[in-house]
Amino acid sequence: MRIAQRSFARFEGNFVVELDDTICYCFHVSKRKIFNFLRIHHPRRASQLSECGGAGTGCGWCVPFLKRYFAEETQQAPRLEELLTPEEYARQRGEYIKAGKGTPPPGAIPPPA
Ligand code: FES
Repeated sequence: MRIAQRSFARFEGNFVVELDDTICYCFHVSKRKIFNFLRIHHPRRASQLSECGGAGTGCGWCVPFLKRYFAEETQQAPRLEELLTPEEYARQRGEYIKAGKGTPPPGAIPPPA
């Protein structure tokens, strides 16, 4: 009972990236598209998620998340609870880009100001 209450509080606090939230800001790919691609196409390697609308082929920020979703879906890793809000996810991507770790392509969702 105590665990369920804590989980509920976390959901109420919107501490999750929802299925319709964007994961790849460079190519506008949602978490739902990624999981649908995984379930329909059964890629053999995480890198094949690039065939899902180009996910992961821009600045590279979302690649660790794509790898994690692949590992979870192929049961190579336990499913983890999201700990980032969509706003925090976008903010961290902005810092990643500002640090020169990746360059978004033209048409990408720009990092927050
Ligand atoms: S956010 Fe996915 S490649 Fe930039």
